[in-house]
Amino acid sequence: MVIGILGAGQLARMLALAGKPLGLKFIFLDPTPIACAADNGKHLIGDYTDPKLLTQLAEEADIITYEFENVPVEIIDFLSEKTPVYPPAKALSVGQDRITEKNFLQDLGIATAPFKAVSSLEDLQQAMPEIGYPAILKTRRLGYDGKGQVVLKSENDLSNAWQAVKNAPCVIEGFVPFEREVSIIASRSVSGEIAYYPLSENSHDKGILRLAKNTRNDPLQQKAEAYIDTLLKALDYVGTLALELFVVGDTIIANEFAPRVHNSGHWTIEGSETSQFENHLRAITDMPLGSTHSIGYSAMQNFIGGVPASEKLLALAHVHLHLYDKTARKGRKIAHATARTDSAENFADLIKQLSELAAASDDS
Ligand SMILES: Nc1ncnc2c1ncn2[C@@H]1O[C@H](COP(=O)(O)OP(=O)(O)O)[C@@H](O)[C@H]1O
Ligand SMILES: [Mg+2]
Repeated sequence: MVIGILGAGQLARMLALAGKPLGLKFIFLDPTPIACAADNGKHLIGDYTDPKLLTQLAEEADIITYEFENVPVEIIDFLSEKTPVYPPAKALSVGQDRITEKNFLQDLGIATAPFKAVSSLEDLQQAMPEIGYPAILKTRRLGYDGKGQVVLKSENDLSNAWQAVKNAPCVIEGFVPFEREVSIIASRSVSGEIAYYPLSENSHDKGILRLAKNTRNDPLQQKAEAYIDTLLKALDYVGTLALELFVVGDTIIANEFAPRVHNSGHWTIEGSETSQFENHLRAITDMPLGSTHSIGYSAMQNFIGGVPASEKLLALAHVHLHLYDKTARKGRKIAHATARTDSAENFADLIKQLSELAAASDDS
């Protein structure tokens, strides 16, 4: 069976690496001539909107999926006429606009931060008494890794913030004073089988994920599962889905969802009986899903803008390195490493060593 993927970055590569043992073959469409997943299958080089290449992708693939959430919905509709595409277009159309996304979540009874749509500096000024400070201004579309976001501490920040977002339609949201950030990842198959991963506990810096740790028996696991269960069913979702959450006391507040495999789930490659990547492929090919049981303790460290020498990282027993084969650029995710151990004893120490190495090579 051939899986077509829109995008040939690191997520596509990890999907392909997970799919090969299952006998799956891959074809990627990505405009970058040297893309990191490309040597794991066939690479169609060209624009995502090129009808000739899209037709070729649909003809050569049995099932199509994607690795990024900004795929124009019309492309999914075009491909779907020939070949099934998962996750469904609805997940994209809802998730691509932060306002639509938050309204959708709220309608399902999933709590979000207070928010308002704003499309001018006047709108923003009018919204602030209700939203309060601190607050975050975010472009409604196309934001990722904290891009297109400005924190507002007081009235004095308003006009600079509005300039920074370049007049784009935005959402202004209240800053959630969270104690922890977590994400729940789950996979749902064509037949409707669902597998939930244990919550991942995530640390961000400058809006970019740095460290993701798997949790055990987290007191909020059940609540998070109920949220993502509702979301999966409302979207008639197929594939792996991630829901980012803020924890305040014993409540969880949804931040956003990603209709794809997620950076906070990379530890599942070594740390779960079945990774988020394998379960995504099982889900879209309608195979039984694999166990999401955690194997010991694991945490993933991202390397941003730079990566420590492999010799240094691999000198740490229990550390597994994933180099994405991408050119280093300021703020760009170019690798990650997972620490996985059987015992809790040296786990914190191991994470500390990994984080220190990451900080020394970081360029963000
Ligand atoms: N309303 C908020 N309150 C507190 N922190 C926030 C809020 N919104 C975003 N953040 C912080 O910024 C990070 C990135 O924001 P997010 O909305 O997830 O955008 P992106 O699409 O760039 O991932 C979050 O993971 C969180 O750490
Ligand atoms: Mg996010």
